[in-house]
Amino acid sequence: MEIKNILITGGAGFIGSNFINYILSNRNDAFVVNLDKLTYAGNLENLKSVEQKKNYQFVKGDITNYELVDYLFKKYSINYVINFAAESHVDRSILGSEIFYRTNVIGTNVLLEAAKRYCVKKFVQISTDEVYGSLGPEGLFTEHTPLSPNSPYSSSKASADLMALSFHHTYGLPVVITRCSNNYGPFQFPEKLIPLMIINSLNNKTLPVYGDGLNVRDWIYVTDHNKAVELVLEKGRVGEVYNIGASREMKNIEIVKLILSKLNKPIELIEYVKDRPGHDRRYAIDSTKIQNELGWKPGFEFEEAIGKTIDWYLSNKNWWERIINGSYKDYYNLQYGKN
Ligand code: NAD
Ligand code: DAU
Repeated sequence: MEIKNILITGGAGFIGSNFINYILSNRNDAFVVNLDKLTYAGNLENLKSVEQKKNYQFVKGDITNYELVDYLFKKYSINYVINFAAESHVDRSILGSEIFYRTNVIGTNVLLEAAKRYCVKKFVQISTDEVYGSLGPEGLFTEHTPLSPNSPYSSSKASADLMALSFHHTYGLPVVITRCSNNYGPFQFPEKLIPLMIINSLNNKTLPVYGDGLNVRDWIYVTDHNKAVELVLEKGRVGEVYNIGASREMKNIEIVKLILSKLNKPIELIEYVKDRPGHDRRYAIDSTKIQNELGWKPGFEFEEAIGKTIDWYLSNKNWWERIINGSYKDYYNLQYGKN
């Protein structure tokens, strides 16, 4: 399938920039417009390898800006949308929720309305497994698990999902939703567990483990997520939800110890700190549907991909040093400056 004029929002963030780098190096049928506000999490350095390409256009702007979004749909004859743009960090949503609802809910509404006006061929809403809430020790999230979001972040994502599905039901808008588990890989902003623990280890700073460290997340390498998104864009059935996950559950403390051991750092760097309020205990994804319907399966083993990820942070010290000395400085120093 030819995917001509595609609007990718949030393409300067972690997953969006990996998606753009992947799609533009794998196919030349796509013309990509990347609309990104460049919040603290957006970084054009992530897109160095594509910025000169003729089939790539960056636009700095906000998805809540109705006039700008309308202008871009018209100017570039947009016929596909992938909405990665979001405020994505749970801890920040606990500190202040307003921007989460503004971007993740109102912004999605602005995009859906434009997609309706311009009759797009497909709208992929990038959601998250966090909309399902928290699991006990057994069981997996399926697409039929009731939505039960617990944080301002996840409730904003669940709201956007319901809105997107209602646009399909009411107006026939060709919407598909993906719900992926925890990603890791290059260009992940160092507020998230894996890059934060790598960078703090390298800086000999303490590694803050929330609560008892036994919360479980289901980890997927970002390229595997993005291959699934490409398949959903091409072949996903409209009005459907697809879970994406690599069936690699890990307790947080296991990840932290693994990173310390790979970097030959002492276990004493671990510091158990106050738990995240409302901290979801366990996420685990059943991805049978996307595997059976679209033929997707994860390509990376955790052991190999976590090694690649650590190597990337070792080789790209300039990238993360600029972040912790720049846009992230105040937050980072507040949290970790004392040691
Ligand atoms: P990120 O925080 O790294 O990047 C978000 C990007 O969106 C940034 O470039 C930022 O500048 C941009 N953005 C924020 N507000 C904007 C606005 N109003 N207008 C335009 N651009 C705006 O996030 P990420 O980890 O790459 O996540 C991308 C998407 O994937 C999000 O929708 C998130 O909910 C979802 N998701 C993330 C994970 C994960 O593990 N990181 C897992 C599942 C789903
Ligand atoms: O499951 C998908 C979600 O994964 C995405 O929708 C979110 O955008 C993404 O941020 C991520 O959310 P989490 O809250 O699971 O990720 P985070 O990296 O913030 O935390 C992972 C786990 O590690 C979680 O149980 C909290 C814990 N943690 C996190 C940090 C930052 C710590 O113990 N210490 C820390 O310093």
